[in-house]
Amino acid sequence: MVDIHSHILHGMDDGAKTLEISVAMLEMAAADGITDIVASPHANNDYTFDPDLIEARIRELAAALTVPIRIHRGCDFHLTFDNIEDALRRPDRYTINHRRYLLVEFSDLLIPKTSGEVFERMLAAGIVPVVTHPERNALLRRKWETLENWADAGCLMQVTAGALLGRWGRSAQEFAEKLMDANLAHVIASDAHDAEHRPPVLTPAYERVAKKWGQSRAEALFGANPAAILAGQPLPQPAPEPAQRKWYRFW
Ligand SMILES: [Fe+2]
Repeated sequence: MVDIHSHILHGMDDGAKTLEISVAMLEMAAADGITDIVASPHANNDYTFDPDLIEARIRELAAALTVPIRIHRGCDFHLTFDNIEDALRRPDRYTINHRRYLLVEFSDLLIPKTSGEVFERMLAAGIVPVVTHPERNALLRRKWETLENWADAGCLMQVTAGALLGRWGRSAQEFAEKLMDANLAHVIASDAHDAEHRPPVLTPAYERVAKKWGQSRAEALFGANPAAILAGQPLPQPAPEPAQRKWYRFW
């Protein structure tokens, strides 16, 4: 499995607090069957995004590891004005593995009206936004049509593994299931922050997806799709459009 969203680097944001915790998280991830993990520190008004420091922390962490797992670069990107302009100028500072996909996290307080335009500018510049955990954002949960429009435009949706298991509450779980039912969940990730409460573990969610939506969906959402994102390739199995969505569009 490939985990494209995690806060495993210590002292960068609200993720791992120490190198020891980072190591413990990666040992858990490797034991869980994760071969590749993206370190995606926040870039927002609270946390400065420092690519040189991230590289140094990844090297330090890789050197401390005794388990087989590859660490890749990423960013939990917030749509601030400065971030947007910088990402359009230098996308590979922020994109996953320096390729084309960009994790985009929304604030719980405001979904800017200009978000769709920003996504259009990004897509035109070759950046594919991956909206992180819409199921955990109460404002996004009320914007189903907006999420559909973003997906139709070419954006992807990342659901949190724990949300599918009810660890983020009933509303988040129901919305995650709705995204799954509508083929609007393109990838599932841990968004791990520590080794206890929010660990980098995907297998229980994988099993839940395999049971409820089938083995091939699970393999796509935990394996093939995040692997393609890591490689900067188009998703191998684009989610088929439910007939209902198309039908509504003509009325
Ligand atoms: Fe995150």
